[in-house]
Amino acid sequence: MAKQYTKSQALLARARKVTPLGSQTYSKSVRYFCEGAAPAFLDRGQGSHVWDVDGNEFVDFMCALGPVTVGYNDPQVNAAVMAQLQKGISFSMATELEVELAEALTRIVPCAEMVRFVKNGSDATSSAIRLARAFTGRDLVAVCGYHGMQDWYIGSTTNRRGIPTDVCALTKTFVYNDPDSLQQLLAEYPDQFAAVILEPIQADGPAAGYLEALRELTQAAGALLIFDEVVSGFRYALGGASELYKVTPDMAAFGKGMGNGLPISAVAGRADVMELIGTQGVFISTTFGGETLSMAGSMATLSILAQPGIYPRIWALGERMLSGVRAAIAKHGVGEVVKVSGLAPHGGVGFEGKGSLDYLDIMSVYQQRMVEQGILTTGINNISVAHSEADIDQFVAAADAAFADIRRALDADSLDGILLACKVNPIFKRNK
Ligand SMILES: Cc1ncc(COP(=O)(O)O)c(C=O)c1O
Repeated sequence: MAKQYTKSQALLARARKVTPLGSQTYSKSVRYFCEGAAPAFLDRGQGSHVWDVDGNEFVDFMCALGPVTVGYNDPQVNAAVMAQLQKGISFSMATELEVELAEALTRIVPCAEMVRFVKNGSDATSSAIRLARAFTGRDLVAVCGYHGMQDWYIGSTTNRRGIPTDVCALTKTFVYNDPDSLQQLLAEYPDQFAAVILEPIQADGPAAGYLEALRELTQAAGALLIFDEVVSGFRYALGGASELYKVTPDMAAFGKGMGNGLPISAVAGRADVMELIGTQGVFISTTFGGETLSMAGSMATLSILAQPGIYPRIWALGERMLSGVRAAIAKHGVGEVVKVSGLAPHGGVGFEGKGSLDYLDIMSVYQQRMVEQGILTTGINNISVAHSEADIDQFVAAADAAFADIRRALDADSLDGILLACKVNPIFKRNK
């Protein structure tokens, strides 16, 4: 029987009156799904599965946009949180948990001599940028990737309304996997860059020698190198990209994967830089920085992720997905418009347009069928400890059905009779 979204639709109508887009996070809003053929509200999760407010069940490959590394409603993480709940949530002084978690990160993260906890990825990247500016006495920052919602980064994107022009002018962008693009930027503004920040793993990952080249370029330019590991941390390897590729930045920002969904993030780095927080007037301090439920949950999450065999299994499941998807793309001859993208733990598909269909038309056809088949995805997928071979096989079977739809749309050069709900409408769009 076709899925019904009656309750989701009714809640959405209510939500739109009281909160913009009906969701607190752009990428969790209906703009990323085919409205009318997808849920808008989830109710609960268990392991790798979630249930929407109408009772429809999905295998969730979004994992709350990355935070759910272990799985929903995990007994070990829950037990740690509940034990802490009995003792209290936020206190008037620091707790032992802060020390334990900071010590754990200094063991796990190659650049982490000291750690400061904050609440979300934007706090962590923004703290790193402020520290770099203070340490170097310079103002410019070079960015590559997405680094959160604060002015210093969003000012460099098309969504920059409300940000002073002078702030926008301090941020310059460079191209991933192209060391020359950074080299040119650094040469154009000699001795002016405080920091070079990038997501170290984008698309299919760094080309051989790329991260090493950035390490050398930043050292020569006197700028600090910051890895934004908000996505890559705890996902590809426990110690993130710097563990995987053996390149150690001056600082790194972590967030999403640290607490299996609990709101906790961290900036970590060289002691001589981090110490500016305590002694040199660099202000990085927030009421909930040491909130204990997230810290207890994070300790439990990290101890699960540290077990032997966890990451090889995540990579193997991701490979199983990507090879199944590749075979389905070939079977339906849709390789012109559907491209496999990403490394196994965080991989999936991207879309291109063809004829009169643009890339969002193709993405919408895909998305509609995936949701109908019980798969929650927006393109790139996160593999958690809770995902199983059966989940992956369900994903691949759904993708096979979605590619058949795309084939029909391409042959007809039309979505008539194929896309039966709204087209997706992401916040950040490409030109084509
Ligand atoms: C690489 C990266 N950095 C920073 C952020 C910002 O994190 P948050 O949304 O928790 O502020 C994100 C969020 O998607 C991200 O993907």
